[in-house]
Amino acid sequence: MLSKVLSVPAVVAIASIVSVARAVDLSCNDNVAVYWGQNSYGATNAADRANWQKRLAHYCRDDAIDVIPLAFMTTSYGVGGLPEINLADACNNNDNGTFPGTNLADCGRLADDIEYCQSKGKTILLSMGGATGNAGFEDANQASEFATTAWNMFLGGTHQYRPFGKASLDGIDLDIESPHNPELWEVFTERLRQHFNETNRQYVISAAPQCVFPDAALGTWLNHAWVDMVFVQFYNNFCGLNAYGDAKQWNFGDWAVWAKTRSKNDKVRVFIGAPASATAAGTGYLDIAKLQNAATETARSFSSFGGIMLWDASQAEANNGYAQAIKQTLKSNSSCGSTSTLANCTADAWTAGNNYQAGARVAHTGFVWEAKWSASSEPGNASGEQSEWMAVQECT
Ligand SMILES: *[C@@H]1O[C@H](CO)[C@@H](O)[C@H](O)[C@H]1NC(C)=O
Ligand SMILES: *[C@@H]1O[C@H](CO)[C@@H](O)[C@H](O)[C@H]1NC(C)=O
Ligand SMILES: *[C@@H]1O[C@H](CO)[C@@H](O)[C@H](O)[C@H]1NC(C)=O
Ligand SMILES: *[C@@H]1O[C@H](CO)[C@@H](O)[C@H](O)[C@H]1NC(C)=O
Ligand SMILES: *[C@@H]1O[C@H](CO)[C@@H](O)[C@H](O)[C@H]1NC(C)=O
Repeated sequence: MLSKVLSVPAVVAIASIVSVARAVDLSCNDNVAVYWGQNSYGATNAADRANWQKRLAHYCRDDAIDVIPLAFMTTSYGVGGLPEINLADACNNNDNGTFPGTNLADCGRLADDIEYCQSKGKTILLSMGGATGNAGFEDANQASEFATTAWNMFLGGTHQYRPFGKASLDGIDLDIESPHNPELWEVFTERLRQHFNETNRQYVISAAPQCVFPDAALGTWLNHAWVDMVFVQFYNNFCGLNAYGDAKQWNFGDWAVWAKTRSKNDKVRVFIGAPASATAAGTGYLDIAKLQNAATETARSFSSFGGIMLWDASQAEANNGYAQAIKQTLKSNSSCGSTSTLANCTADAWTAGNNYQAGARVAHTGFVWEAKWSASSEPGNASGEQSEWMAVQECT
């Protein structure tokens, strides 16, 4: 009874600070992004209901988390030509009401949680896609039209159906894993950015490619679109955290080279996407000490490093403060704005015509490269699995 009485002024206080919401600071490399919505812990530990995902606001009460993509908008053009969203037990079109003539769940009860999180400085995104997603377009008109629909339904526009009610999200995340006309996502995000420009508010676009470079679904889009954050999924793949430190496989370097030489936004932030517990992914989970080491070394090695992405909130919470522990490490070694902490290029300069042995290190084009095997090509020209070189450090 007492707690109910006390909750009244608390709600008032929350409402009054919504207008001064900060957002993720992309000039810094200590950010933590945590996906919420899919109840990954519940999906893999069905009997342990106490640890299923909590309501969104629960994860916004401490300072560990900076960005929360809501997972997922699964379908772009569903019943009635409108999208569908599925946030597992938190909101879906079977257990919750849908808007007339659509399969779109009305998740309006999440509005207060979203605004509370934003008042705490969290950036809340709508993640489109997912492993079984049906998000995509048939032609450029659809892609452009859908950017306007998404703006109106989820972001700064207006629409008769607002799945998150009065709450206005901070941007869009693309987790497109099945390529269907992938080039049309360029049309979508370009149109979306035009809408962003209608206001003074900061909106962001992020993406969650697999670590295999280039990404099968979003590789071309990543080269052509203006992207603020990339949450690379370093799990369930040979290039994941399971191979951390092995230059033949662990490939943050490919993404760091992409960030500096190919991305339209040369300040794009690349996050290490990590499973938040052993049951969150097939491979790639590291105990916290190892992840802390990977984060510290990567932050020191690459200026594009932005922080850690965790899949997902429920798994992190059930895993002994995993998100809080990694945030503390990132903060204690964070740098903002400048690249002055980059090491000098100490390796010998790469020389054309040389045949380098596996493991040899050379400096070339602002990176230290390690030969994955016998190497005679120029570092940096080919990227990905076939390349003879892996960037292991950025340098000046
Ligand atoms: C959706 O329905 C479930 C089951 O009844 C409920 O627990 C949840 O709070 C609902 N979500 C919203 C956003 O209304
Ligand atoms: C948005 O505005 C910025 C700054 O004026 C401009 O550089 C950019 O091209 C605009 N983007 C779009 C998609 O119109
Ligand atoms: C910060 O980085 C240093 C090495 O540069 C490392 O020894 C230290 O453990 C890091 N701090 C934390 C809290 O991990
Ligand atoms: C790089 O070398 C320059 C000149 O030798 C030196 O002044 C600078 O401190 C070095 N930077 C680092 C990060 O070691
Ligand atoms: C690498 O690319 C540069 C510039 O694009 C080109 O001049 C050079 O010949 C290429 N080197 C190799 C080994 O392909």
